[in-house]
Amino acid sequence: MLVHIDDGAIAAVSHLLGRLIPPDSEVLDLFSSYRSHWPKEHPKKRMVGLGLNAVEMEHNPDLDEYLIYDANHETTLPFFDESFDAVVITVSMQYITHPVETFREVNRILRPGGRFLVLYSNRMFHTKAVYIWLVCNDQQRGCLVATYLDEAGNFTEAQGFYVPPQGDPSGESSDPMFAVLASKAM
Ligand SMILES: C[S@@+](CC[C@H](N)C(=O)[O-])C[C@H]1O[C@@H](n2cnc3c(N)ncnc32)[C@H](O)[C@@H]1O
Repeated sequence: MLVHIDDGAIAAVSHLLGRLIPPDSEVLDLFSSYRSHWPKEHPKKRMVGLGLNAVEMEHNPDLDEYLIYDANHETTLPFFDESFDAVVITVSMQYITHPVETFREVNRILRPGGRFLVLYSNRMFHTKAVYIWLVCNDQQRGCLVATYLDEAGNFTEAQGFYVPPQGDPSGESSDPMFAVLASKAM
C-alpha cells in the first residue's frame, strides 16, 4: 500500500478536487487504490472507488464504498446511467487500454453537467503504461486526453492545465501534476 506521488503533488490534487468538484457530489474514483486525496474540509455525498485491489481500497479513508472491477477487460462500467456528479482519474490514465470506450462509459454514468477530471503526472510504472503515453511529453499527454474526450463525444468545455504543487513554492522538489477537466454536455 503506497501513494504514487509525493506530498506536494498530493496536496495539489486535494486542493484541485476541492476547487473543481462541487460540494456534496457523488464521486467515482476510477482506478482507485489506497488514497483518493479528497480534501477533509470539502463535503461529499458519496465516493465510490473502482479498482483491482480490495486491500488498498479497504484502507482508503475517502471511500464510502468500493468494488473490484477490471475496467480494461470489461467494456462497460458497472453503474446506472447518470449516477455520478463527478468522475476522477488520478495518476492512472496511462494504464487505460481502451480509453475512448472508457470515456464513453464515464459520459454515460455522469449526470448532465457532471465533471470529469483526469489528473496525471510523469510518475508511473513504465512497464504497465500504454506505449502512446510513454512516448508523449507532459503537454502532449494533455492533448491525448483531449483527443479521447473528443472521440468519446458528448463532453464540453475541455481544458488542460498545470497544477502547481502546494507547500513548495519553487515546485522543484515535487512531482509535476497536470489536469484535464471536462463536463458532460447538458
Ligand atoms: C497508480 S495507482 C492509482 C492510484 C490512485 N488513483 C492514487 O491517486 O493514488 C493505479 C490503480 O489503478 C488500479 N487499476 C489498475 N488497472 C486497473 C484496471 N484495469 N481496472 C481497474 N483498476 C485498475 C490498481 O488497482 C491501482 O491501484
